[in-house]
Amino acid sequence: MKSLNTILEQTREVFLHAQDAETLEKARVAHLGRKSELTELLRSLKDMTPEEKREIGPQIQHVKHELEVLFEHQKQALKEKAYDWEKERVDVTLPGKRQNIGHLHPITQVIREIEDIFISLGFDVADGPEIDTEFYTFDALNFPKNHPARDMQDAYWLNEKNEDGDPILPRTHTSSAQVRYMEQNIPPFRIVIPGKIFRHEPTDASHEHTFHQFEALVVGKDVHVGNFKYIAEEFFSTYFDKEINIRLRPSFFPFTEPSFEFDISCTVCLGKGCSVCKKTGWIEVGGAGMVNQNVFVSAGYERNTYQGFAWGFGIERLAMMKYKIDDIRLFHSGDLRFIRQF
Ligand code: FA5
Repeated sequence: MKSLNTILEQTREVFLHAQDAETLEKARVAHLGRKSELTELLRSLKDMTPEEKREIGPQIQHVKHELEVLFEHQKQALKEKAYDWEKERVDVTLPGKRQNIGHLHPITQVIREIEDIFISLGFDVADGPEIDTEFYTFDALNFPKNHPARDMQDAYWLNEKNEDGDPILPRTHTSSAQVRYMEQNIPPFRIVIPGKIFRHEPTDASHEHTFHQFEALVVGKDVHVGNFKYIAEEFFSTYFDKEINIRLRPSFFPFTEPSFEFDISCTVCLGKGCSVCKKTGWIEVGGAGMVNQNVFVSAGYERNTYQGFAWGFGIERLAMMKYKIDDIRLFHSGDLRFIRQF
């Protein structure tokens, strides 16, 4: 049998000279495997006297351990040598890849802008549910049962009823949040309620079935139409960043008395007359009026104790005027070429 030292030296040589992982593995099997000289030596221990075992056993184990460590070390070195470092190379002069970064929908941006203006005028922002009851959408707002005024806003009705058995519907206007708020709050207050609403009506360039409104509601002891006109002028002039004239025309809503149709001077032609305002110089943006006393009574207030005004303006229409968008259907079209412009 070769001396342990010779085995150690020869095996070390073979391991260190292996040029690839396969040769190294073959060398491991030959020099450390079951049929190797070293393993033979280990096996022969059983025929030795206890003294010999005690002396030679640890020496063999020591050589074996040293060779195993060398093998692992060499294996790792060959692996690193074989690695294709070229593929890790980064060309820092290449142009970067453009990432698509999302942003808020233009309607959300406009809603936030509207909220900011109203907050600066001392208003609170409130909200109400998109699916509401017939009571809050119509009854509490003084729409008589079976009255044709209910048809002014064609509703989608749901088959289900709420837990109290009341008919429910996707709200047809943000006015449905008015009485909900008044039931919980005592005047004076000023609130604005932006939100999504739904109407069963055909669509065209200026009409959607799903769109947004923002409601304003100001209630106190001596609120009057003059306050309303002032706040509306402030709001529109800030929003459009130019002086805007407003015009009120008599109208009818069951929940306001008197009621107005609300027009602003055309922001495109500044009142001279163009295709956007259909040559009139004015654009209709919403309905408004002094809160009908019957609505206060629905909310639990005593009749003739408070006065207030309310309005409901279409948000898409305001966004269209500001950004010169000629078709309301673009907002929900999902067309990224449109959305990316904002
Ligand atoms: C209402 O919805 C009333 N709730 C407004 C109101 C509130 C009056 C408080 C008095 C007091 P109207 O149905 O006219 O009113 O809608 C108001 C505004 O919503 C319209 O002037 C318009 O700007 C917008 N609007 C109405 N229908 C559509 C539609 N199909 N698509 C886009 N915008 C619409």
